[in-house]
Formats: sequence, C-alpha cells, structure tokens
Amino acid sequence: MLLPIILVSLSLSVPSLAHFSLVSPYWRGNSYPTQWERPCGGVNQSISDTNRTEWPLDGGSVVFRGSHPWAYTFVNLGIGGDNTTNFNITLVDGFNQTGNGTFCFPRITLPADLQVSDGTNASIQVVQVNEHGSSLYNCADITFSTDARTLGADECSNSTGVGGYFFDAQPATSSTQSGTQSLPPPELPRLVAEQHVPISATDKDTQRLIVVLSNASLETYRASHGGRTGGRDEKFSLLNSDEHIGVMRKMNRDISDARPDITHQCLLTLLDSPVNKAGRLQIYIHTAKGVLIEVSPTVRIPRTFKRFAGLMVQLLHKLSIRSTNSQEKLLKVIKNPITDHLPPNCRKVTLSFDAEVVRVRDYVQSLGERESICVFVGAMAKGKDDFADAFKDESISISNYSLSASVACSKFCHAAEDVWDII
Ligand SMILES: *[C@@H]1O[C@H](CO)[C@@H](O)[C@H](O)[C@H]1NC(C)=O
Ligand SMILES: *[C@@H]1O[C@H](CO)[C@@H](O)[C@H](O)[C@H]1NC(C)=O
Ligand SMILES: *[C@@H]1O[C@H](CO)[C@@H](O)[C@H](O)[C@H]1NC(C)=O
Ligand SMILES: *[C@@H]1O[C@H](CO)[C@@H](O)[C@H](O)[C@H]1NC(C)=O
Ligand SMILES: *[C@@H]1O[C@H](CO)[C@@H](O)[C@H](O)[C@H]1NC(C)=O
Ligand SMILES: *[C@@H]1O[C@H](CO)[C@@H](O)[C@H](O)[C@H]1NC(C)=O
Ligand SMILES: *[C@@H]1O[C@H](CO)[C@@H](O)[C@H](O)[C@H]1NC(C)=O
Ligand SMILES: *[C@@H]1O[C@H](CO)[C@@H](O)[C@H](O)[C@H]1NC(C)=O
Ligand SMILES: *[C@@H]1O[C@H](CO)[C@@H](O)[C@H](O)[C@H]1NC(C)=O
Ligand SMILES: *[C@@H]1O[C@H](CO)[C@@H](O)[C@H](O)[C@H]1NC(C)=O
Repeated sequence: MLLPIILVSLSLSVPSLAHFSLVSPYWRGNSYPTQWERPCGGVNQSISDTNRTEWPLDGGSVVFRGSHPWAYTFVNLGIGGDNTTNFNITLVDGFNQTGNGTFCFPRITLPADLQVSDGTNASIQVVQVNEHGSSLYNCADITFSTDARTLGADECSNSTGVGGYFFDAQPATSSTQSGTQSLPPPELPRLVAEQHVPISATDKDTQRLIVVLSNASLETYRASHGGRTGGRDEKFSLLNSDEHIGVMRKMNRDISDARPDITHQCLLTLLDSPVNKAGRLQIYIHTAKGVLIEVSPTVRIPRTFKRFAGLMVQLLHKLSIRSTNSQEKLLKVIKNPITDHLPPNCRKVTLSFDAEVVRVRDYVQSLGERESICVFVGAMAKGKDDFADAFKDESISISNYSLSASVACSKFCHAAEDVWDII
C-alpha cells in the first residue's frame, strides 16, 4: 500500500513530471509512466511495427503535444525497421519549443545524402529536454512512401501561444531580460575561458583521455515563496543533501541521491590536471536524469560549492553557458548518446570493484598508439555500477580499496600524464 502514496507525493513535488505525446507520426504507444527512458520512452515496437505511418520521401510533418513552458527539442531518425535503437540522423537540433499545447513542424527536411526509397522503414525519435534538465523521449515508426504527403492545416497547427525558434535565429539581445521572466537565476557566477587550446571538434585522431562523470546528481529544485496563490516568486536551487534533507524526505527519496558536490570535486580535479592543460582531456557529465553535458577543457569552474550550484542551475535552465570574454560555449547540454561524441578509436572502460585489479599506468600504456580511452566514473554516493554497461568495452578495477570518484579521476589523469610524457 505504500506505492500509491510515493507516486502521489512525487508528482506533487517534482516539477519535472510534465509529459509530451507524439501525435503524428503515430507514436509507439503511451510512454507516460517511463518517458525518461532512452531511446524511446520505454516503449518498444511490439504494437507499432505493424501500424507504421507513411512519410514522404522528401520529409514530412511532425506533430506533438507538449506540456512544458518551453523545451529544448530534437528530432532524430533511425533507418531500419527492426527495433531500431540507433537514431543517428539529426533532423532538428537546437530548437527551443515554447508554450504548452500542440506543436507542428509542417515539413522536416531530410539530409540531402540520405538514401531512402519507397518502402524503406525507419523510426523517428523526438526528445524534449525541459527546463529542469530532464530528457523525455517518444518514438514513432514510419515507412517512407511516394504516396505520402505532408499534413494539411487541419492536422498541422500550433495551439495559441505555442511556437518556437532555432537558437541560431534568435537575435542576440536576450541578456537584458528583466522582471517578467519566471526562471531568473540571479547574480550568477561568470565564467571565463583559460588560455590553452582544446582538441578541436573535427580532430578524431589525437590520443586523449575522456572522462564521463556518470549518474551525476544534478537536479534543480523549485522552492516557492510567498503563499499558495501567486507562485510567481520562485527560486531554483541545486538539490543537495546539505540544504534539502527535509525536502528529500518529503519526496521519499534517499538523501544520497542529492550529492552534486561529488561532481564539483571531480571537475576541479580534472580541470586542474596537467593532462587537461596539455589539451589531452575531454570531460562530459551524464546526469542521473539523462542529461548529457559537455565541459570545455578551458572552463574555470567556481571553486566554492555555492557558486558552482548557481552555475549548474543556470546551465540546466539555459542549456549552455558562454564565456564572458568570447562566444565560446564553456558548458553545454548536448544530444545523447555519449557514443556519438567519442572518437572512433576509443576504448570504453567502466570501473568495477569486482573486476581484476590493474595498475592504471600499465593499463593506459597498453592502449594502441592512436587509441583513446574513455572512462565512465560514477559521480554518485552509492548505487550499482551498471550505468555504462550499454557502452563499455571492458570493466577494470584500479585499486584494492574503494575510491572516491575524485581520486579515481585523478589516478587516470596521473597515469595518462606519465605515459604520454606530460609533466
Ligand atoms: C515490449 O513491450 C511489451 C508491452 O509493454 C512487453 O510486454 C514486452 O515484453 C516488450 N518486449 C521487449 C523485448 O522488451
Ligand atoms: C522487435 O521487438 C518485438 C517486441 O519486443 C518482437 O516481437 C519482434 O520480433 C522484434 N523484431 C525483430 C525484427 O527483432
Ligand atoms: C516495413 O515494415 C512492415 C511492417 O512491419 C513490413 O511489412 C515490411 O516488410 C517492412 N519493409 C521492409 C522493406 O523491410
Ligand atoms: C494505428 O495508428 C492509428 C493512427 O495512425 C491509430 O489511430 C490507431 O489507434 C493505431 N492502432 C494501434 C493498434 O495502435
Ligand atoms: C499545460 O496545459 C494543460 C492543459 O491545458 C494543463 O493541464 C497543464 O497544467 C499545463 N502545464 C503547465 C506546465 O502549465
Ligand atoms: C547510422 O548507423 C547505422 C548503423 O546502425 C550506419 O549504417 C549508418 O551509416 C549510420 N548513419 C550515420 C549518418 O551515421
Ligand atoms: C509552429 O511554430 C513554429 C515556430 O514558430 C513554426 O516554425 C511552424 O511553422 C508552426 N507550425 C505551423 C503549422 O504553423
Ligand atoms: C544512480 O545514483 C543513485 C544515487 O545517487 C542510485 O540510487 C542509482 O541506483 C544510480 N543509478 C545507477 C543506474 O547506477
Ligand atoms: C526558450 O524560450 C523561453 C521563452 O522565450 C525562454 O524562457 C527560455 O529561456 C528559452 N530556453 C533557452 C534554452 O534558451
Ligand atoms: C591487491 O590485490 C591484488 C590482486 O587481488 C593482490 O595480489 C595484492 O596482494 C593486493 N594487495 C594488497 C596490498 O592488498
């Protein structure tokens, strides 16, 4: 009898449970209970495989119904009929869908070099990252058809107050917003870039160390002040175990779910390391809610926790943070999965207490000459170490003792520095 009570109290106190549904192409099925599960909101093709929507060969319409004030929206395509999970073709990226209601893209064009023909089966994935940083997923199965048409105005329209824009198209004047904004993390720490040269996005060859801080607890919490009626005076903070013991208890959640300090400590360790200054380190954060964040190696993260927390709230709301002295994005939310961002020749490693103990230096030495290494480090207080099992090539143990996440990061940095002759 405890379960219904937990569910009710969660939906009252966690604001991120707003959902969206995919109207056209017809979705795989109701994903509401599991919508945060990648890649398809926890719904498989068992019903929809035989109920595919026909889609035009030169691109078609996508209609969905959102319930967020706004959401960062992606539309991806996976070619192939059989339980496709590889949505590696981006159709829409960098789009801010605003307003609560029905939204329609009248015609989404396909990449010019895409090979599809009459009868090709594929699946469409729509991802919404809401203002609390949660990713929600829905998929639909389609068949490309020369007979299919884009939807007419009767089926494709935006509700009143619903719209959106591509970030690139947005005039760059948004820094002077005032009073009326409802998501106003105030007086935030400013970030500047440090002077060293990171690996460029097109460079896939340079041997490097990649650290993914996995299952990191970075979650915003909305505290409303000023009575039950207005709800205007909202303040967001980063859920953490020092300040929110009472809140966590009310939500029936384990206090160890709120440890953003672990991520903070790891970031400082990593960014301060010589291997980072030498431009051979890349850092990603994958939060427990599924948000993937790219950290620029040149960012100078605030050293005190309070300022770090302010920055993370700002990031989860704005989805990217620029340097104050250049246009460079120092922190940004990027599209899952992480494997899309790794270089092709890269060994993916998880740390497990049960695996064979190796000396990290020897392990790094054993890499091929051009082989990079990507380590998934759990930035959490406790829990299973299976968060990266879908990606890993190998599991290793790096000490006879159980290590904090920060020490694990530093062992890898030191090993890479030794082997790659960075002093
Ligand atoms: C697919 O979903 C159905 C209904 O939810 C479920 O019964 C079935 O076990 C799932 N199949 C797989 C392979 O996950
Ligand atoms: C796809 O998944 C469904 C349900 O899990 C299963 O019944 C079906 O056989 C799968 N199709 C293929 C081609 O694997
Ligand atoms: C596409 O999927 C439908 C429905 O499952 C199937 O009948 C058809 O053979 C598939 N087409 C191809 C080209 O695989
Ligand atoms: C098949 O798709 C149509 C919309 O294209 C939908 O109305 C119908 O409910 C779907 N059938 C099943 C069994 O899901
Ligand atoms: C969005 O609209 C629906 C129906 O109008 C409403 O029930 C829901 O509370 C709204 N959500 C938000 C976040 O405003
Ligand atoms: C997407 O992945 C498939 C294999 O699942 C691969 O054949 C195809 O080339 C990939 N497409 C792109 C654009 O990366
Ligand atoms: C809905 O709004 C978006 C953004 O303004 C726009 O691109 C799109 O064309 C609109 N859809 C319709 C059917 O007008
Ligand atoms: C992620 O961490 C939380 C604790 O912060 C834990 O309860 C959960 O099991 C972990 N999830 C995975 C997949 O390891
Ligand atoms: C999306 O648009 C809304 C409304 O204009 C705005 O409040 C929000 O900050 C925007 N999101 C991003 C990531 O820019
Ligand atoms: C550490 O573990 C290895 C392998 O399990 C074992 O051979 C070694 O004696 C252990 N060392 C210490 C100091 O416990």
